[in-house]
Amino acid sequence: MLLQVLMFLCFIFTLIYILKKRNYWRSRGITEVEGSLWKFTFGDRSLPEYYKEIYDKYEDEQIGVYLGSIPSLMLKNLDDIQAVMAGDFQSFYKRGLTVNKSDILGDNILFIDEYPRWKLLRTKLTPVFTSLRLKTMFLSIEKCAKDFVDLIESDETLMKKPFDMLYTFTAASIGAAVFGIDIGGKEAMESPFVIMAWKALTPSFSTNLKFLTSNAFPWLYKTLQLRFFSEHEEFFIGAVKSVFEARRKAEKRNDFIDLCLELQKNGTMKDPTTEYELEPTDEVLAAQAFFFFIAGADTTANALHFSLLELAGHPTILAKVHDNIDEVFKDGKTAISYEDMDKLQYLDMVVNEAMRKYPPIGQLQRICTRNTELPSNKLKIEKDTGIVIPIYAIHRDEKLFPNPEVCDPERFSPQNVQKMHNYSFMAFGGGNRICIGMRFARLQLKACLAWLLRKYTLEEKVYRPERFERSSFSLRDTNATYKLIRRNNN
Ligand code: HEM
Repeated sequence: MLLQVLMFLCFIFTLIYILKKRNYWRSRGITEVEGSLWKFTFGDRSLPEYYKEIYDKYEDEQIGVYLGSIPSLMLKNLDDIQAVMAGDFQSFYKRGLTVNKSDILGDNILFIDEYPRWKLLRTKLTPVFTSLRLKTMFLSIEKCAKDFVDLIESDETLMKKPFDMLYTFTAASIGAAVFGIDIGGKEAMESPFVIMAWKALTPSFSTNLKFLTSNAFPWLYKTLQLRFFSEHEEFFIGAVKSVFEARRKAEKRNDFIDLCLELQKNGTMKDPTTEYELEPTDEVLAAQAFFFFIAGADTTANALHFSLLELAGHPTILAKVHDNIDEVFKDGKTAISYEDMDKLQYLDMVVNEAMRKYPPIGQLQRICTRNTELPSNKLKIEKDTGIVIPIYAIHRDEKLFPNPEVCDPERFSPQNVQKMHNYSFMAFGGGNRICIGMRFARLQLKACLAWLLRKYTLEEKVYRPERFERSSFSLRDTNATYKLIRRNNN
């Protein structure tokens, strides 16, 4: 019932807004395209694909679109994008997703828009991913990767749905490495954390509609007191509280939980520049742990999945990946180390190329918080204007990546990376709000692929997707498959 009411209200308000606000860009001499968010909500593809259509159709470097009621600008010029993400960050720190205070998890995660709270949390959480902590966490990541491949060996039919398996690995390894939930093998697949992360992120019509309302009709989202993650609140906050309780008495592990306990011991958190203060309550810290699952499990599983799909279609690249991995495992080594990760340079290039072609997050948005202008043509941007950064379209732009449909890992060789604009490859975003888990994700990606492709190779199969799932920000193709073949080297 709520869904129908929501749909009806969104429809009426979209009509009113379109009639009221249309021509905002046209009257300023800028090409304007209407209805992409609406088309997406009732369409059959992801929002990044709709944005790519617009990007490819118009030559202009700035294209007017609407995020429901909000006049927004899709950017192509990389210097403008750099200004939005970093140079003029103070004018564009907001992502523009409305959250209600009653949404305990949603309102406390690092994704939030309230600048002083975000800045304080980001500063306090950054130490989770220092080299020293990553090195410690790598032991759990590596163990999970090995367990995952052992599990497949014990029952190869599990790989009939490869995405589900990869998702299980990513959720289990975030659980193990970031906050010490030690479960491996079959048990990991049935873990309530994995199931929760899965439920919270699988796109559905109802989540897309919530996204639309939160994004385009903030006041309606507030009036109806909608919440993104309410159904996971009780389970997750409860689970994290018991982990805290157990770990207060246990040995230090140098992971996220230890950092949380340290923060609680130190009392009120304070940002000396903004003077903003926040209590490190169990709820605030549980929300961060929750968001690491949400932000990390699906994205990393997609990056793994697309890497394997591309490798299955490119035997020559696959052979080079095997050589790279075999070199690391040479002399009968039975484990890989944190230091070995640097030796998997070709694998790194392949993963980057897969994320270029299929960025797990296919579009970003920002909301302007004060009147400003863009550097490329001094275009005035008014407060409350939206900005769309169409990552998927940029990654497939012929001018930035010649023959963009071709899989060519050499684009990411160290020499070629030096020649790239910093903002042409944005799989992890960029600037001040760049993905905080990027280095952790790279370790997960490489450890999993190293173990998997040490034992298995892939049957040749070209991957040519016609469209992706109907997600508001990610590119997903979870039903795509490939066949693993056991290698005879071990
Ligand atoms: C291949 C895997 C991943 C990809 C492609 C990815 C991509 C992204 C992107 C595009 C953003 C938005 C950046 C922006 O707005 O500029 C982001 C933000 C974020 N990611 Fe990731 N991510 C991945 C893995 C992870 C992991 C493993 C974690 C945590 C363990 C994580 C935690 C976060 C958080 C907390 C944010 C919000 C940062 C902020 O607003 O300050 N991500 N990620």
